[in-house]
Amino acid sequence: MLDWSEPKAGAAARAAVSLNSAGDATGLGAIDRSGGRVSVDDKAMINCRADVNQLLPLKYRWAWEKYLAGCNNHWMPTEVSMQADIALWKSRDGLTEDERHAVKRNLGFFAASESLVANNIVLAIYRHLTNPECRQYLLRQAFEEAVHTHTFQYIVESLGLDEGELFNMYREIPSITDKAAWALNYTQSLADPQFSTGTPETDQAFLRDLIAFYVVFEGMWFYTGFAQILSLGRRNKMVGIAEQYQYILRDESIHLNFGIDVINQIKIENPHLWTRDFQDEVRGMLRDAAVLEAAYGRDTMPRGFLGLNAALCEQYMHFIANRRCAQLGLAPVFAEAENPFPWMSEAMDLKKEKNFFETRVIEYQNGGALSWD
Ligand SMILES: [Fe+2]
Ligand SMILES: [Fe+2]
Repeated sequence: MLDWSEPKAGAAARAAVSLNSAGDATGLGAIDRSGGRVSVDDKAMINCRADVNQLLPLKYRWAWEKYLAGCNNHWMPTEVSMQADIALWKSRDGLTEDERHAVKRNLGFFAASESLVANNIVLAIYRHLTNPECRQYLLRQAFEEAVHTHTFQYIVESLGLDEGELFNMYREIPSITDKAAWALNYTQSLADPQFSTGTPETDQAFLRDLIAFYVVFEGMWFYTGFAQILSLGRRNKMVGIAEQYQYILRDESIHLNFGIDVINQIKIENPHLWTRDFQDEVRGMLRDAAVLEAAYGRDTMPRGFLGLNAALCEQYMHFIANRRCAQLGLAPVFAEAENPFPWMSEAMDLKKEKNFFETRVIEYQNGGALSWD
């Protein structure tokens, strides 16, 4: 006999917390008609048994706020004029050969990386992050990654670049392949259909994937790429791409901060996972990632240009890696390194991140263009 009465309020009802089906983290299982209503205390980042189809009541307001910030930052690559870039790219001496080489490698790195990040969100992270407000943000982030991939399609089309060359660089250029392969190693363990969180080993595997993609891929490797293009943009070269990268950077800064918040919240709720050995392993991951990035820097800028070179980028990566360690509550992995690109931190991320968002959001909503003053 079906029971259509209101669920009982209070602790008794919470004890029989609403599940869409026993132990189901997907939200697609059979509906539990007799379960109690979800309370915030039932919600958890991973291995949660409360119904993932109920957004409210919110437990993690930081996740909801990042979802709102992402929506406020909406942009499309086709809104940015490519005329100046097309003229410069087609002119004979507008760019040096070194600059052209760096731009192409940079575009090639990002073109496939945006898809790798998107696939990791949709096919690995989403399923195991058992909190609806975090999933709400993941859905927004997945769309933003699609916008970023669209950006590279638009750039290739505008400049008349060889699409096969660019989109295959992650397979054909060793310094790019090495980074993609390093990250894929962490998502592949989660892609196994038999994989599920719930043991210390599998929960740590999930944390490793979050660290590889949010902290390393989006939080370290993208930053050299941004520095390369924004450095050109500051000197009035490839200003359309530079403007698009500034919008991407604004999105990615939120992706990074969301990832850091997720990892730290999982740590709070599951302190047994954050062992001394695991912390050492994570620091090793960040150190290895910086080594891979130094190789990419040498490959993309064999001679350097416009105040940017491989040695400065390696120093920047050490600075960023130490910063990411601090955000995760870890000891630094490198000797104290000065930020060689203070104009990057002024423009966005590190110290003035919040101000940057607020400024850009307002400018974007007013339809104003970015300026390079
Ligand atoms: Fe992206
Ligand atoms: Fe991203």
